[in-house]
Amino acid sequence: MKKIMKPEFWKESVVYEIYPRSFQDSNNDGIGDLQGIISRLDYLQDLGVDVIWLSPIYTTMNVDYGYDVIDHCTINPEYGTMEDLEQLLEELHGRNMRLILDLVINHTSDQHEWFKQARSSRDNKYRDYYFWRDPAPDGGPPNNWTSFLGDSMWQYDRETEQYYLHSYSVHQADLNWDNPEVRREMHQMMRFWLDKGVDGYRIDAVNAISKDTSFPPATDTHKMQANSSEFYKNGPHIHEYLHEMYTEVFSHYKMFTTGEASDVSLEDVKEYTNPEREEMNMVLMIEASKICDDPDDMWKSKSWDLHELKEIVAKWQNDLYGEGWMGTYLSNHDHPRLVSYLGDEGEYRVESAKMLGIFQLTLRGTPYIYQGDEIGMTNSPHMHTIDDVTEQQARMYYELMVKEHGEDPEKIMKRIRTKARDNARTPMQWDDSTYAGFSEHEPWLPVNPNKAEIHVQDQTDDPHSIFTLYRTLIHLRRKSAALLYGKYECMLSEHDHIFAYTREWNDEHWLIMLNFSRSETELQLPQELASRLETAELILCTHEDHSREVARALISEQPATLKPYESLVFRGISILDS
Ligand code: GLC
Ligand code: CA
Repeated sequence: MKKIMKPEFWKESVVYEIYPRSFQDSNNDGIGDLQGIISRLDYLQDLGVDVIWLSPIYTTMNVDYGYDVIDHCTINPEYGTMEDLEQLLEELHGRNMRLILDLVINHTSDQHEWFKQARSSRDNKYRDYYFWRDPAPDGGPPNNWTSFLGDSMWQYDRETEQYYLHSYSVHQADLNWDNPEVRREMHQMMRFWLDKGVDGYRIDAVNAISKDTSFPPATDTHKMQANSSEFYKNGPHIHEYLHEMYTEVFSHYKMFTTGEASDVSLEDVKEYTNPEREEMNMVLMIEASKICDDPDDMWKSKSWDLHELKEIVAKWQNDLYGEGWMGTYLSNHDHPRLVSYLGDEGEYRVESAKMLGIFQLTLRGTPYIYQGDEIGMTNSPHMHTIDDVTEQQARMYYELMVKEHGEDPEKIMKRIRTKARDNARTPMQWDDSTYAGFSEHEPWLPVNPNKAEIHVQDQTDDPHSIFTLYRTLIHLRRKSAALLYGKYECMLSEHDHIFAYTREWNDEHWLIMLNFSRSETELQLPQELASRLETAELILCTHEDHSREVARALISEQPATLKPYESLVFRGISILDS
């Protein structure tokens, strides 16, 4: 068998992302912490996930809540101590679960010791750990690059009269990976956690670490954010640095590596993840989660249709088959809530959350579930004015658009309410008490008032809940070679509302049928497909008796009407004579 098709634990895992600040507070200061996570491990085990990805837990200034690291090898005291982390590891391993940490290596906090040294004088040893350049002849920044926040990617330092580079906020200075000392220190830091027993990494912004250091002017000047990404995404030495990371670090451990990599072509993904090349296990498939974003300004929404989504999915499922591996995620801590942007957070919240769960968990690729999606949590209703918004990207966007460009504040707030990262960061809803069981103290971000109806306690014992459906799917997936490794084929590809596909591996065959819309949809299967269903069993559905009726009708080639978001999963469909 080709090495690439080999079964591996990291292909068969289901990952659950915890945003530590918002998961569970144990000492009632309103901030989630490690002991809080420990107290909820039974819940995660019951759900069936087996890898926990922790968003950063290192000492930080909280400019970007952990993604601005002051010290990569110490724990943010708000979250606990090193002993707590060790206890978490032990408790996870005792449950046969794994822990992966978020590896933030593209930048550090401007309060990191290296940066403080670097900024202290031009000939400090650490100066070259970062990118420093002279001002342009007019005294302005060295070039026209914009950061992910939309401001200049260069920040002037008065003391030493040069600019430094920052892909994110001015408080997150980009590290110079071309400096072998930086790479050596980073490798050492990676080993520090692995030696403690940590099982792997989700590597933050990994395909941005090698830059074109001639810093050519950006040509995509119509783009509001990151107008020069072509010069540092998948940059000149990226494969060299990843391969080195592999030989120096990864190859010495049985571990899990996944890269957050946006703006990748499938060719890039194949290069990053083909095991023969020895770089990473997988790259996260981000494209589908950006389907609502205007490519020139991510805060503006663009309309999309199902054909677009089918195309993206087909590309990653078919063109990568046997040539690379990916993680699938539809939401995370940087996104609006899954059900709010891709489903219907109102009338059909439960139905659409279930459909999205079926969708993600029946595709090939290691699934990453974001905390709260398994109970159908929704966007935050608290962002009335910009003062209610906590995360830096939204605040910078407001600053630029309203204060600098004079845009109407309400128009900009509308975009922010839809897209801001605060939406995904409201406290996890465990029960319907005042602070949703997250804490007994007012939390750092307000609890969504819909905790009254949407909470864990209400769903774990309910056979018809979103949670139960996720749990069932996770268990089904684990036992099914077809769902894990099988070929994907889109059925009814011309249909505007129905997303249907098969997954096949040897003699195991599944058909997944999703009404990806908020309208009722009439459907009659072509004879060829209907006859394949004769031997099939309806394994899972969203609408109980109604779905069973739909299944009966479809199999006997009768028309049936699927309710909004109604979804059916069949196993055992027969093989078509070719
Ligand atoms: C990644 C993280 C995001 C963070 C950024 C900078 O995209 O997911 O939360 O702001 O990197 O580290
Ligand atoms: Ca706490």
